[in-house]
Amino acid sequence: MTFTKEIACPRCARRFALNQLLNLCPCGSPLLVRYDLKTASAGLAKSSLRDRAPTLWRYRELLPLEDDANLVSLGEGFTPLLEAKTLARECGVQQVWIKDEAQNPTGSFKDRGLSVAVSRAKELGVKKVAIPSAGNAGGSLAAYAARAGIEAYVFMPKDTPLANQIEARQYGARLTLVDGLINDCGRIIAERKVAQGWFDVSTLKEPYRVEGKKTMGYEIAEQLSWKLPDVIIYPTGGGTGLIGMWKAFAEMEEMGWLGKDRPRMVSVQASGCAPIVRAFDGGKDTAEPWQNAKTIASGLRVPQAVADFLMLQTIRESKGTALSVSDDELLAEIPRVGRAEGIFFCPEGAACIAALRQLTQRGWIKSSDEVVIFNTATGLKYLDVLQPALSRKNSD
Ligand SMILES: Cc1ncc(COP(=O)(O)O)c(C=O)c1O
Ligand SMILES: [Zn+2]
Repeated sequence: MTFTKEIACPRCARRFALNQLLNLCPCGSPLLVRYDLKTASAGLAKSSLRDRAPTLWRYRELLPLEDDANLVSLGEGFTPLLEAKTLARECGVQQVWIKDEAQNPTGSFKDRGLSVAVSRAKELGVKKVAIPSAGNAGGSLAAYAARAGIEAYVFMPKDTPLANQIEARQYGARLTLVDGLINDCGRIIAERKVAQGWFDVSTLKEPYRVEGKKTMGYEIAEQLSWKLPDVIIYPTGGGTGLIGMWKAFAEMEEMGWLGKDRPRMVSVQASGCAPIVRAFDGGKDTAEPWQNAKTIASGLRVPQAVADFLMLQTIRESKGTALSVSDDELLAEIPRVGRAEGIFFCPEGAACIAALRQLTQRGWIKSSDEVVIFNTATGLKYLDVLQPALSRKNSD
């Protein structure tokens, strides 16, 4: 049972029927799923969620799948929101929670988007999917496609962490390593997809991955008893999580599950690849591509994102901000938070901690604020890149 109504373009307002395969709007914008939220609020009480299974599919009616027979799940979502008392004390803020996305089936939050996108692709009869990936999404797609009986074609930069490369192959995907970045991978797929019969599941170039990612917003609301935090800090590449959570908050308000208060949304990028930060600081509505992108946080190595304008809108509407942190800063946080909280952060998640420290020092985050940060993947997926970087730092 789903309350989906239609698919719509947030830029030109064009609308599309549900039961067709869609990529971008002809105007070039990502497409978003719209729900009949009036009917949803009458038919679905938030209290009815309490007894449901601890996966993102507990928000089943607010996800786009029609028939449960097509649901492809490995138990993704409903990850813990862990209190980080030591980190909060160190930074001088009231409350810090870590949304620990490492506890997803393939060790990253990418499982959310790909469980929903692969389920829907299966429902619409797709036989082959292709993905350009900074790393984790490729591994995740490979897993869900295997479970769905769909062929997966994964394109990653050749210096992607080994775990991502190895896992994709073990799940039976065809992996191509590209001498370039995620955008170059995307270009190759665009060139070959028609001849190869691939459905392109690049993030925000199809409407369903963002639906999976929005469940992070539903979960934070539910886990905090329907009172959102003051600030959410999110490591931003393609921006799917940021845009998804913002969409979730609007849906919940329309259903009467939440009031009007919203968190200030903070986008963190790496200083070696920070197109959104540059655009935000420059007062721009879209972001110029970043040249020579370089960072150890491979998930943040996204020089150009198709949803740049939606990210910038979200940050501004929420009265949030965007900032970048250096690789040295984020690397320094990994052993610190490891000792303080017993969580092995990925570099992208560690960027959130460095940002939290900067923003509290600047006074942008106040001592009375309640803050959620994301650990978007497990540090265990980065051993080959972390080992040389961390041992170099330890011997400094
Ligand atoms: C671990 C990790 N964190 C953050 C990101 C960025 O996510 P998004 O595309 O939602 O901005 C990625 C994307 O590859 C990632 O793998
Ligand atoms: Zn459009």
